[in-house]
Amino acid sequence: MPDHRNHHPNQHPDHHHPKPPVTVLGLGAMGRAIADAIHRGGHPTTVWNRTPGRADALVAKGLDLAPSPAAAVAAAPVVVVCLLDDASVRDTLGALGDELAGRLVVNVTTVTPKQARETAAWAAEQGIEYLDGAIMAVPEMIGLPVASILYSGSESAFTTHRGLLELLGGARFFGTDAGRAALFDLALLGSMYAMFAGFAHGAAMVASEGVPAGEFVDLAVPWLSAMTTGLPGHAAYFDSGDYTAETQSLDFNKTAVDTIAEASRDQGIGTDVPAAVQTLIDRQVAAGHGKESFARIFESIRRRPAADRVG
Ligand SMILES: NC(=O)c1ccc[n+]([C@@H]2O[C@H](COP(=O)([O-])OP(=O)(O)OC[C@H]3O[C@@H](n4cnc5c(N)ncnc54)[C@H](OP(=O)(O)O)[C@@H]3O)[C@@H](O)[C@H]2O)c1
Repeated sequence: MPDHRNHHPNQHPDHHHPKPPVTVLGLGAMGRAIADAIHRGGHPTTVWNRTPGRADALVAKGLDLAPSPAAAVAAAPVVVVCLLDDASVRDTLGALGDELAGRLVVNVTTVTPKQARETAAWAAEQGIEYLDGAIMAVPEMIGLPVASILYSGSESAFTTHRGLLELLGGARFFGTDAGRAALFDLALLGSMYAMFAGFAHGAAMVASEGVPAGEFVDLAVPWLSAMTTGLPGHAAYFDSGDYTAETQSLDFNKTAVDTIAEASRDQGIGTDVPAAVQTLIDRQVAAGHGKESFARIFESIRRRPAADRVG
């Protein structure tokens, strides 16, 4: 075992301790960025991709292309998996149990928490060390400090290979439950998609009168940025479960969102985005909570609604 006691992630390459070989399975946009960053970090890097040809630029830089997943896995004690989804991970790793035994799999494919836990359980049965990773970055950000990758699963793998993981971006450990990183990943992505949908709705409103999105965005960015300062207040409501409010009641916000929906209809555009918010508000108002904070929409989401039951 190498001695990692003095290990520091930002240390300069140590020529007395060559970096361990790493294999990357999957050379989509993200897999290619990851393989490149690992190779630039000084690790001998082997790659494999289902469809040939995607490794050409990497091979030109000195990475090794393996002819099969089994050959790729055999080349390194650490195997980074960056495929499309959980099904492709199962397709690819399912037959490799024997080859992977005794190695570390770092699966940075986007999966659900349940899928991550299932893969971790499968890995444990096969004698494979498992770390699940969730990439909060686009490929262009890989290797830069702005990239953030969330990990959960094997803590010793995270600690031992932290230097390798930090070649990809900031690395943060979320605990030994392999599903946790995916939980945070999808929670953040869920927040993001709703925000993007909100922006698309706003852009469609002004577009109905010929205003280009490029003009609207100049107002939307500072507005949405300013609104994020309200999130800690919402979080305090969510955590306490006390939605007592002096201002910003559900009733007040119902009027506002109903007006947005009405204006959208008047302008001849879709109302799907405000309709989703109306549903969340209306469920709480119908249960008699109209005087409480708008933040109470959390209770419309927190538990899957069974008929009209509210929190
Ligand atoms: N791109 C991003 O901005 C971003 C950001 C965060 C997280 N991620 C996550 O990173 C992962 C990879 O994303 P990407 O952008 O690299 O996607 P991508 O460009 O679409 O690449 C998908 C990769 O999966 C492979 N693949 C798909 N089905 C397969 C199967 N059944 N068996 C074997 N290989 C299979 C593809 O191989 P072929 O070449 O043979 O089709 C390709 O290498 C995804 O889980 C994604 O959610 C991506």
